[in-house]
Amino acid sequence: KNLEEYSYFAETAIFVPLKAFITKEIHNNTMEKKFKRTTVTSALPYANGPVHIGHLAGVYVPADIYVRYLRLKKEDVIFIGGSDEHGVPITIRAKKEGITPQDVVDRYHTLIKKSFEEFGVSFDVYSRTTSKTHHDTASDFFRKLYDKGEFIEKTSMQYYDEEAKTFLADRYITGECPHCHAEGAYGDQCEKCGTSLSPTDLINPKSAISGSQPVMRETKHWYLPLDKHEEWLRQWILEDHKEWRPNVYGQCKSWLDMGLQPRAVSRDLDWGIPVPVEGAEGKVLYVWFDAPIGYISNTKELLPDTWEKWWKDPETRLVHFIGKDNIVFHCIVFPAMLKAEGSYILPDNVPSNEFLNLEGDKIFHFHATGRYGCTSISLTSPASRMCCATC
Ligand code: MF3
Ligand code: ZN
Repeated sequence: KNLEEYSYFAETAIFVPLKAFITKEIHNNTMEKKFKRTTVTSALPYANGPVHIGHLAGVYVPADIYVRYLRLKKEDVIFIGGSDEHGVPITIRAKKEGITPQDVVDRYHTLIKKSFEEFGVSFDVYSRTTSKTHHDTASDFFRKLYDKGEFIEKTSMQYYDEEAKTFLADRYITGECPHCHAEGAYGDQCEKCGTSLSPTDLINPKSAISGSQPVMRETKHWYLPLDKHEEWLRQWILEDHKEWRPNVYGQCKSWLDMGLQPRAVSRDLDWGIPVPVEGAEGKVLYVWFDAPIGYISNTKELLPDTWEKWWKDPETRLVHFIGKDNIVFHCIVFPAMLKAEGSYILPDNVPSNEFLNLEGDKIFHFHATGRYGCTSISLTSPASRMCCATC
């Protein structure tokens, strides 16, 4: 219903300026490089709720326009989509509703897929990260990095809910903010004053799942040492891709300037792809590790025999269309994973539009934008769209 109501708006206010932006900014910038084909991906939406006009305007309509443009030019192009079906919020929703996480993703995958079809987003494939192909692909990918020694193993203390018998993601611990003393601050951020926090900063922490007081427990995880990748990332983004959009370039620059840290790529959770090494019972791949690999898995489903040239041939142009809260994952983390694996190409462009929030009736609000756009994006928060107090 919403889509019908807003399609006129989308066409006039969004379609026309974006078409100009896409053909000029994304394509012509890379015209001088000769590519034989283009792999276009659009961020895999979480199968945890319906897709809305903000998603369409920011990611899927622009990607669709670009793909249709290439098809009209008779270029070789594939357009990859799919649902992102892992992560903590899906398990929480399942618990609340008394159903399984699989029930949750089945419901929303079906709904989202249908919305895209009805809206006319012309994916060549729209699959999902609970598919067997994806489980195998992501698992093999992790195993290859593990075998190559591309991870470090670290033990840390983390909050554990003894009642719910589960480790707690940062977002699922609430308490008093140590800065503004507001109640109900999250383990990753206080929404009242915008300060980013770690769960141990909270005064009187409580589990958002059971309400009980969490305890500290030791846990082991695998980390991607992004610090080891910093040097080539600096060169590749800041020197070789000055043409990327200012908000994308700027956010990468501010991350690189802060210095990159190792990032955990596993979680203590019973929903996801099991970490494929010994001694990893009860641990799954972090959703942001497996989800971008979903682009590859979905390409395999579309083209079981020829998928590799779309991901490994340097004459392929790879373009990721994403929302602005996905920038770091697509410009830094996923490229580091691809580089560590060793046989993949890296994206040529990562167009990200300012995020659109639908407020009240028909008013659109952009996220706060400084010279380079908002940079206070929380990487670990499932509700990362709340990037800062201003936004
Ligand atoms: N599900 C994420 C979101 O909605 C996007 C994932 S993109 C992918 O913010 F690269 F991981 F697939
Ligand atoms: Zn606060």
